[in-house]
Amino acid sequence: MKFDTKIVRAGIEPDPTTGAIVPPIYQTATYVLPEVGRDLGYDYTRSANPTRQMLEEQLAAIEGGKYGICFASGMATVDSCMKLLKAGDHVVCSDDVYGGVLRYFNQILVNYDLHFTYVDSSDPVKVQDAVRPETKMLWVETPTNPLLKVTDLAAMAQIAKEHDLLYGVDSTFATPVFLRPLEFGADMVVHSTTKYLSGHNQLIGGIVITNREDISEEMKFVQKTIGAVPSPFDCWLTSLGVKTLHLRMERHTANGQIVAEFLEAHPKVAKVTYPGLPSHPQHEVAKAQMDGFSGMISFELEGGIAAGKILMNRVKLCALAESLGAVETMITHPATMTHVDVPAEERLARGLTDGLVRISVGIEDPDDIVADLEQALEKV
Ligand SMILES: Cc1ncc(COP(=O)(O)O)c(C=O)c1O
Repeated sequence: MKFDTKIVRAGIEPDPTTGAIVPPIYQTATYVLPEVGRDLGYDYTRSANPTRQMLEEQLAAIEGGKYGICFASGMATVDSCMKLLKAGDHVVCSDDVYGGVLRYFNQILVNYDLHFTYVDSSDPVKVQDAVRPETKMLWVETPTNPLLKVTDLAAMAQIAKEHDLLYGVDSTFATPVFLRPLEFGADMVVHSTTKYLSGHNQLIGGIVITNREDISEEMKFVQKTIGAVPSPFDCWLTSLGVKTLHLRMERHTANGQIVAEFLEAHPKVAKVTYPGLPSHPQHEVAKAQMDGFSGMISFELEGGIAAGKILMNRVKLCALAESLGAVETMITHPATMTHVDVPAEERLARGLTDGLVRISVGIEDPDDIVADLEQALEKV
């Protein structure tokens, strides 16, 4: 099956009883056993559910992996991956990861004797230098949220191999349409399916995909034991959303490029970061390892935070909202929204200024998105 066909068809069979082309939702907590000691492959939905399995197979196939394990959110997925660690272990992590991941690592996991070193993973030398004898995992987000730093995944695989590290990649911003980290040597790929994969701001979810049977077994054990599972209905909705992923991503990346170029040329904009612009510091790496650049852009205005606030309050079509990766264009202020729990000093040290604005470019007509930004910028 070619890639675009996989997106529409992989993992999904018509319902064997009725022939329904969209399989039904198995919205059940439990299953009736035919006799003691024998089930029909299912005993309790925390352990397994056909609707969840359909989504797991669909997303694993698209990502080019053997196994997919779904969780109730992107954060529950990251959490489950961290269950592969033991007290005393050390993780080398990209410095510009999503604020919720930083909050989880720095405010919860450190209490369990896990240790984290944050480095700019777009520089492999810094990653190499951060590895210690007790390092067990390399955790990379690419492109990062919100500064869109791009990491050379093959270079990371070499470091992971050399030091025998578990190598995880949060590929939420890229999606398998533009990047398939398993092809570059990652052990596991994580997505917040809340974003592009479901694509319509309709739910919260997450998945980890791997080719390694040992990781898959551990993740399935964590899934059924801790139980941070998505509802069958959310799995079904995600599966429907995924079927148009390739078409949506085409439009997201085309619109993203148009909006990024518009912003870069605007006199009131001081700086634009978008992997598809030649001015992006890792533009060449992004071009080499990605098939498109998505719809995520971050920028700063000449007038800093004051100007940014005016812009975000004046936009009409662009929704001032926390999330990203959906059909609607959304604008976010990381300092007061997604990264509000990162201490200001730490945030600023990472280059995440008060004036930074993030935009998740949707799939509307790009003229309307640009016109909305233009009218808001006029008032800045
Ligand atoms: C890159 C990235 N990873 C993980 C998450 C967490 O996902 P969720 O909100 O589904 O828990 C987010 C959320 O914004 C994200 O941007």
